[in-house]
Amino acid sequence: MAHVLVFGQRQCELRLSVLLLYVTILLGSTNTVTAIQRTSPEKPPTYSDVAPILARTCVPCHQQGEVGPFPLDTYSSVRKRASTIAIVVEDNYMPPQRNDPTWRRFAHERRLSSQEKTTLLSWIRNDCPPGNDDTTRRKPPLPLSQTRQTRPDLVLPMPLTMDIPPTMEQTYFCVAIPFEFDRERTVKAIDYVPSNRRLAHHASYQVLEVADDVDLRNIPAFFRYGKDQPAHDSLDYAYFGLISRSSGLPRETFHGGWLPGTQRLQFPPTIGFRLPRRGVVLLRNIHYSPSARSDSDRAEVRMWFGTENNVRNLVFAAFKPILTDTSQTVIRAGDVDTHRIYARIRDNIGVYFINPHMHRLGVSFTVWAESPSGDTIRLVRIPSWDFDWQDLYQFESPVHIPAGSILNAIAVYDNTAKNPANPNSPPQDILFEHGMNDDSEMMRLVLMVAPWKHGDDRLRLPEQRPPRRR
Ligand code: HEC
Repeated sequence: MAHVLVFGQRQCELRLSVLLLYVTILLGSTNTVTAIQRTSPEKPPTYSDVAPILARTCVPCHQQGEVGPFPLDTYSSVRKRASTIAIVVEDNYMPPQRNDPTWRRFAHERRLSSQEKTTLLSWIRNDCPPGNDDTTRRKPPLPLSQTRQTRPDLVLPMPLTMDIPPTMEQTYFCVAIPFEFDRERTVKAIDYVPSNRRLAHHASYQVLEVADDVDLRNIPAFFRYGKDQPAHDSLDYAYFGLISRSSGLPRETFHGGWLPGTQRLQFPPTIGFRLPRRGVVLLRNIHYSPSARSDSDRAEVRMWFGTENNVRNLVFAAFKPILTDTSQTVIRAGDVDTHRIYARIRDNIGVYFINPHMHRLGVSFTVWAESPSGDTIRLVRIPSWDFDWQDLYQFESPVHIPAGSILNAIAVYDNTAKNPANPNSPPQDILFEHGMNDDSEMMRLVLMVAPWKHGDDRLRLPEQRPPRRR
C-alpha cells in the first residue's frame, strides 16, 4: 500500500502549492490588471489567441482517449478549469517538462514560451474572453496516436492482450515480442503505442539480437514484477530463455523509452539502428497506474526502415555508479546521499539521446562531460526529479564528445521525512543498485551514441510533421 500513500501525498502537496499560488494570484490580481492596462492599451487576449497555444502544448494529452485527466480542447472545457490552469502553468507543473532549459534544450520540448505563458495567464485573469470568431466552436484535433501519418514498415504488437489487475498498487510487466526475418534492417524511426492511454504510465524497451541456438518459438510472453523480486538483466534474459549456450547474453541494438506525450523517436539523416535478423523486442518495464477496475492493454512497437546507404548505427551505452564499499548499497533512513558516475570516453562520439533514471527518492540528476582540452559539455540537468516524468531526451543535433573526455553524472537522493516524494513514512533504509523495482533505488545513465564524423554538428532531426485530420 506504500505507493498509494505516495500518490496521496503528492496530490496533497500539489493542492497545497496550488492553493498558495491561487491566493497570490487573487491578491496580486488587481495590481497586475492595472499594470497591464497602464502599459498596454491593447485589448486582452481572447480564446482565438489562446487556442493555438493550448493545441500545441496541452491538447496532445488533454483530450478524450489521452492521458490527461480531462480534455482541454474546447472553449468551455478550458474555461471550466481556468483557475487551476493558471496555477499549474505559473508553477511550471504543466506542461510537464522537467529538464533545466538553461543547461541544455532538447527536441520536442513541451514548453510554453514566456510570451505564451503571459498570454494564457492574462487571458485567464481577464475572465477568459471568448473573442468573436469561430475558434470556440472548432473541432478538437485527433488523438496523438492518430497523428502519425506515414505507414510503418513493421508493426510488432504484444503477443497477447495484457490484463491489468484492479489494484491500488503500481503494476509493472515485462513482455517479450520475438521476431525473425530473412535479413537485418536499418531502422530510421521507432514508436511505442499503447492501446490503453488511461493507465499506460511509461515504458522502456530494448531491441535484442539473439544467437541462432535460442529458440524463439517457445519463449514465455511476459511476467509481472513482484515486490521482492530483484530485477536484473541476466535474470530476465534467463527467464525468457534468451541466453545462448555458445555466445551468452543477447546483444542490445537499441534502447527506447515512452512517456505520455512522447513523439516517435526518429534519427537524423545517415543515422539509424540495426534491427537484427532474429531477436526480441523486450518491453522491459511497462508501468501501469493504479486502477480500481480491471482493464487491459495491447501495445505495439512500430518501426520505419531506412533505404540510405552508409547509415551509421547508434550504439547503446549504459552507465552505473561505481560503489566503493558495501555501505553504499543502502540509502539509510534520514540520509541525503550523492552518487556519481565517472567514465572515460575512449572514442570520438556524438550523443543522440540521453536518459537519466532514478526512482522515488531522486532529487536531482546532472550530467556533463569534460573534454581533454578542459571544455565543459553540458548534457542534461533535472533540477527537481519527478518519477512520473522521466524522459528519453533527444538532442536536436548530436552533441560531440571528443575521445578522452570524462563523462560525469551526479545524482542526489533524499531519504528524509522532508522529501514529499518519499514513499515511506517514517523513512526506511532503501537498497541501492539492487534491481529495477521502484521500492529500491538505482542510478542509471543511458546514452545512444554513434561514432563522430566531421560535419555531424550540421545533422538535424527531421521535422515532425504537424498533426492533420485524415
Ligand atoms: C505530456 C502530457 C501532458 C501535457 C502536454 C499536458 N498535461 Fe496536464 N496533465 C497530464 C497528466 C497525466 C495529468 C494528471 C497527473 C498529474 O497531475 O501530473 C495532468 C494534470 C493537469 C491538471 C490538473 C492538475 C491537478 O493536480 O489538479 C491541469 C490543470 C493540467 N494538467 C493542465 C495542463 C495545461 C494547461 C497544459 C498545457 C499548458 C497541460 N496540462 C499539458 C498530462 C499532460
